Amino acid sequence: MPLEAHQQSRVGERSGAVHYPSRWSKSVRHWQKVSPFNPYWLDRRCLRHSVEALAPEASGVLLDVGSSETPYREIFERHVRHYVGMEYPPAVLDKQPDMWDLLYNVHHLLNLLGDGRRIPIRTNSVDTVLCTEVLEHVPDPMPMVHEMARVLKPGGKLLVTVPFVQPLHELPSDFHRFTPPALHHYAEEAGLVVESIVPRGNFASACGAMLSQWIIRTIGTKTHQTDGSVVLSRWRSVPLLPFTAIIQAGFLLASKFTHDDTVCHGYSLIAVKPGEAD
Ligand SMILES: C[S@@+](CC[C@H](N)C(=O)[O-])C[C@H]1O[C@@H](n2cnc3c(N)ncnc32)[C@H](O)[C@@H]1O
Repeated sequence: MPLEAHQQSRVGERSGAVHYPSRWSKSVRHWQKVSPFNPYWLDRRCLRHSVEALAPEASGVLLDVGSSETPYREIFERHVRHYVGMEYPPAVLDKQPDMWDLLYNVHHLLNLLGDGRRIPIRTNSVDTVLCTEVLEHVPDPMPMVHEMARVLKPGGKLLVTVPFVQPLHELPSDFHRFTPPALHHYAEEAGLVVESIVPRGNFASACGAMLSQWIIRTIGTKTHQTDGSVVLSRWRSVPLLPFTAIIQAGFLLASKFTHDDTVCHGYSLIAVKPGEAD
C-alpha cells in the first residue's frame, strides 16, 4: 500500500507530541520541519543540530538502536559505509499498533528487529552505535548501554542523545531525564571512555521551547491523549502560531547572547570503546 494511502486511512496523524487531523498531515509535516510557526520548531531545531554535530564522528558500519522511522539516515549515510536501522517491535506496537506496517512493510526503513537490551549482533562488530532519544524509554538504561558497548569494535564510538527538559511523551514508556553525571556513569560502567557530553540549546532556548509548547498545549488543544500527546483544535491553535513563532525566534536570539546551560533541551554523549581500532 502506498504510504499516502496508508496515512489517509488513519483517523489522526501523530507528530511528536501532537496529533494533527490527517488531511493536514502532509503539508503540516513539511512545514513542521522548517518553520518557526510550528510550536515545536525550536526544540526540533536544537535536536537536529546536535545530531548533525555528531554525524562526523560516525564511520564504517553504524547501528541505529531504536531508529523508529530512521529520521537521521540521510545525515549519517554521508559518513558511514553501511547504516543499519534497528527497531524493537513490542516498543513500537505498544504505542501505535498500526505503526509496524508503516515502518516495515510499507516504508522498508528498518534493517533489523531487536531489543536494544539484547542486540542480535556479534560482540565487537560495528564501528558506530547511534541511539537518539531512546534511553528515556527503557526502564533501566544500563543494560542497553552495556549492549551497545558490547557490539562496538575497539576504537568504535557510541553516539547518544537524551532529553533533559522535555514534556512527558510516549507514555507509559517515558521513564527518565538525564544529567551529564548520569551519562558519565552509564558510559563508564559499560567500560567506555567519555569523549564529550554537550548540552543542546541552553536555558534561554529551553524556556522559549517550553513556553511555546505550553501555550499551544494549554490554549490550542482539543484533547489530551493518555500518551502525553495532544490533538490540536484548528480554530484555537492556528491564531496562536504567530505568537509561538515570535516567542521561539525571540528566545533563540536570547540564547545566542546568554550562556547559562544549567537548563537545556537535552545532551549529546560521545564515548569510545577502549582498544586499538582495526
Ligand atoms: C522517541 S523514539 C526515538 C526514535 C528515533 N531514534 C529518533 O530519534 O527519532 C524512541 C524509540 O525507542 C524505541 N525503543 C524503546 N524501547 C526499545 C528497546 N528496548 N530496544 C530498541 N528500541 C527501543 C521505540 O520503539 C521508539 O522508536
